[in-house]
Amino acid sequence: MRYGYALIDSKQSRIKSPDSIVGKLRRKKLPLTFEAVFNNLHDIAGIRLIVRFVSDIKIVEDLLATQADIKVLKVKDYVHHPKANGYQSLHLILGVPVYTVDGPNIIEVELQIRTIAMNFWASLEHELNYKKNVPDQVTLQRSLTKKARLITKLDQEMDDIKTRMYQQPPTPES
Ligand code: GTP
Ligand code: MG
Repeated sequence: MRYGYALIDSKQSRIKSPDSIVGKLRRKKLPLTFEAVFNNLHDIAGIRLIVRFVSDIKIVEDLLATQADIKVLKVKDYVHHPKANGYQSLHLILGVPVYTVDGPNIIEVELQIRTIAMNFWASLEHELNYKKNVPDQVTLQRSLTKKARLITKLDQEMDDIKTRMYQQPPTPES
């Protein structure tokens, strides 16, 4: 709002259900204890921020990093280093202070930041993997991996338009 610029297009959030938590502990062959959850699962709280332009991802990351109460505990940069299947997003594990009856606690949140185009790709890829009885599923997965390059190209070209539209793109410092 300060810069008159729509940095975040939309956001999604979810809390991992008890069933999924148990499922993940079992998959990782971990004991079903609170300790195992706190030490090993970093995505109980998940937030996804969808931005329009690829350069906005870093702006959001930098804005968060300057916020004194939030600690960036871990960064996985699948934007500059996409996964083999073509998946792109910036993943941050944030430590957020939450005051509970036991006193202050640092709660971890998995934050995914991605463009609208990356989100389009990721949601379709996710759907393809979970959908049953899709003929040619493997062929479609390969095809999606190729489309990921088009997403990167589109994101770059849209960013060029952004640069030309906004002579001074907003930065955390400006
Ligand atoms: P988990 O233990 O599965 O949570 O993953 P991880 O510790 O390897 O974490 P990572 O940060 O790589 O990925 C976690 C989340 O990112 C997933 O729950 C998805 O929301 C998203 N994600 C990661 N890889 C892919 C992918 O290949 N396709 C899609 N659609 N989403 C992905
Ligand atoms: Mg996960």
